[in-house]
Amino acid sequence: MKAVTWQGKRNISVENVPDPTIQEPTDAIVRITSTAICGSDLHLYEVLGPYMHKGDILGHEPMGIVEEVGSGITNLKVGDRVVIPFNISCGYCFMCTRGLQSQCETTQVHSKGSGASLFGFSELYGSVPGGQAEFLRVPFADYGAVKVGAELPDERYLYLSDILPTAWQGVQYADVPKDGVLTVYGLGPVGQFAARIGRHLGHRVIAVEPVPERREMAKRHGIETLDFTKDTAEELRSMTDGRGPDAIVDAVGMEAHGSPVGAFAQNAVGVLPDKMAQKIMETGGSDRMSVLHSAVDAVRRGGTISLSGVYGGMASPMPLMTMFDKQIQFRMGQCNVRSWTDELLPIVEDPSDPLGVMDLMTHEVSIDEAPEAYKHFQKKTDGTIKVVLKPQGVTL
Ligand SMILES: NC(=O)c1ccc[n+]([C@@H]2O[C@H](COP(=O)([O-])OP(=O)(O)OC[C@H]3O[C@@H](n4cnc5c(N)ncnc54)[C@H](O)[C@@H]3O)[C@@H](O)[C@H]2O)c1
Ligand SMILES: [Zn+2]
Ligand SMILES: [Zn+2]
Repeated sequence: MKAVTWQGKRNISVENVPDPTIQEPTDAIVRITSTAICGSDLHLYEVLGPYMHKGDILGHEPMGIVEEVGSGITNLKVGDRVVIPFNISCGYCFMCTRGLQSQCETTQVHSKGSGASLFGFSELYGSVPGGQAEFLRVPFADYGAVKVGAELPDERYLYLSDILPTAWQGVQYADVPKDGVLTVYGLGPVGQFAARIGRHLGHRVIAVEPVPERREMAKRHGIETLDFTKDTAEELRSMTDGRGPDAIVDAVGMEAHGSPVGAFAQNAVGVLPDKMAQKIMETGGSDRMSVLHSAVDAVRRGGTISLSGVYGGMASPMPLMTMFDKQIQFRMGQCNVRSWTDELLPIVEDPSDPLGVMDLMTHEVSIDEAPEAYKHFQKKTDGTIKVVLKPQGVTL
């Protein structure tokens, strides 16, 4: 089959690889009809390269049709249409039964001290072959495949694999009070949804994003927007009675613009051999911190900061004095996708499309065009906001 593979920093290619097969009775094989590129793939493309191996199959936002099931599968049958959450979770362990599927104890990556295994996500998360491919092996498929209806287009359902529950969890964790103001940093796909969810739940939302077309998209959904500058925190205070927003979602993460120290560290790490680079990331500070520091400055006293954006350095500097003095609450983590999908399913199927899932994708391309699409998504050129790859061909 064809698959999108990692070959080196900013170097991916589409290769012919063996088709996946059933390895455990609880596996299913899914024929992928749509599979998106995520901001997290950009971290693998760039900063997390030391944890990738040549030939690793990327992708963790897939959906498709069940092609084959293992002998232990009871919930699925061949021909079912399914969305695959990016966490691989068993559904029955201590963590899964408490809604913490991203910490699943059955699939945790003990060798790296990491949480649940993830599709297509480097050695840090189990080096599991990903979903930017014609077929995907899905472990624990009875739990890890979300059955969806047969009628609506893939775009309605696809984002349940990751970014919609991620944004939902981000806003839940932000704990915005009634009549409160939510600020979202970053209007990539995750931030677009976090901002729209804030509006859907009745909050005023101010989003911060340097890329003009991403701000334009957000404005279509009733969101106030700002460019990111060194004065962002001050501007946010001036828009919120001098106090700052009640809650902030950081939907940017470790590659924020405007962070010269972190950018230097990331570039320096990028030229080292993998083992040395891993050591530095596991002991040093290699995140770009401009957004997180701006959020600490901007949030009102007693407010909450919720991190959806991924951070990776072990000793990235944080202004603890301000965090303590302002009494800031923090929540963060990979999304527990299966905790939210049942609640989100009727929302994405609602004919009025309350979260605008049909207004996110900017590019739908064949799998062969993935290398070009990654470039545009990373550089934010060609108006790219969300790319969906079609491994079975583009139908339009
Ligand atoms: N927690 C999870 O489970 C989870 C799931 C999916 C994605 N993520 C993470 O969420 C983040 C966003 O993902 P995405 O798919 O939306 O990717 P993306 O890269 O398209 O989005 C990041 C956005 O942040 C903007 N940005 C950069 N610097 C900024 C700054 N200084 N101020 C404001 N905005 C700035 C970029 O222009 C871009 O629009 C990534 O870190 C990704 O890894 C986390
Ligand atoms: Zn993702
Ligand atoms: Zn589990």
